[in-house]
Amino acid sequence: MDVIIRPTAAEAEELTARMIADAINAKPEFRLGLATGATMENVYANLSKMNKAGKVDFSQVRTWNLDEYVGLPPEHDQSYRYYMNKNLFNNINIDIRNTHLPDGMAADEVAEAERYDDSIEEAGGIDLWLVGIGCSGHVGFNDPGTSFSSRTHVAYLTNTTYEQNKIYFNPPESMPRRAFTAGVGTVLDAKKVVQLITGKRKAGIAAAAIEGPMTAMISSSALQLHPDTVVILDAEAAAQLKLRDFYDEVFMNDPKWEAYR
Ligand code: F6R
Repeated sequence: MDVIIRPTAAEAEELTARMIADAINAKPEFRLGLATGATMENVYANLSKMNKAGKVDFSQVRTWNLDEYVGLPPEHDQSYRYYMNKNLFNNINIDIRNTHLPDGMAADEVAEAERYDDSIEEAGGIDLWLVGIGCSGHVGFNDPGTSFSSRTHVAYLTNTTYEQNKIYFNPPESMPRRAFTAGVGTVLDAKKVVQLITGKRKAGIAAAAIEGPMTAMISSSALQLHPDTVVILDAEAAAQLKLRDFYDEVFMNDPKWEAYR
């Protein structure tokens, strides 16, 4: 696991966007895994800007998102389809037919989850999955107790996640308590994982996930098993990392990071 700390959230977001753009430029028929949430908004703003400036081309890119609320139609302003269209897809030259999210309105949830995993597999797997982390330690909606080998499924959300996200709903209590999520195993199958963590409210969970023991009680800690994960943090989110000086030394001296310093 590589850990990169940038002084500010803006710098961490910019670096994350650049890493994704470079990966797409190296392989135009890219299969990109995506996340939603406040953390990603500026990453998508950066990617949109780079696309407009001709620095990255999404015309052959296919995307799969981590999750979608059960019961929300695409036009609901809190659905993740709505978020993705607004924050990224409407602003770049992607073919909207190449963008995939679980169907929150699917009548058969088990079949929908299976279909979603199959669509990733049929496409040849995800090249890079961009993920965040929730206050419960989740990636996607894989709240504490989710198996590291889980595939896409419908999850009942914990109180921590409910409290974290209900502020976006009006009224807050209308937030669905269930959501489709790619499984921890689905994410681990990606060739590369880039995780972005910003803000001081994530400092404790970031340290536990990155440096603590691997446990299904913190699904993000499963990324320790992944052979190619880069975690990008701002200084606030990195505040409780024990090896912080070491991560900085590697970033400043290892030739593989030269383009990103
Ligand atoms: C959303 C997702 C979640 C978020 C996490 C952090 O697609 O996968 O795991 O990344 O809940 O959300 P924010 O960025 O709003 O703090």
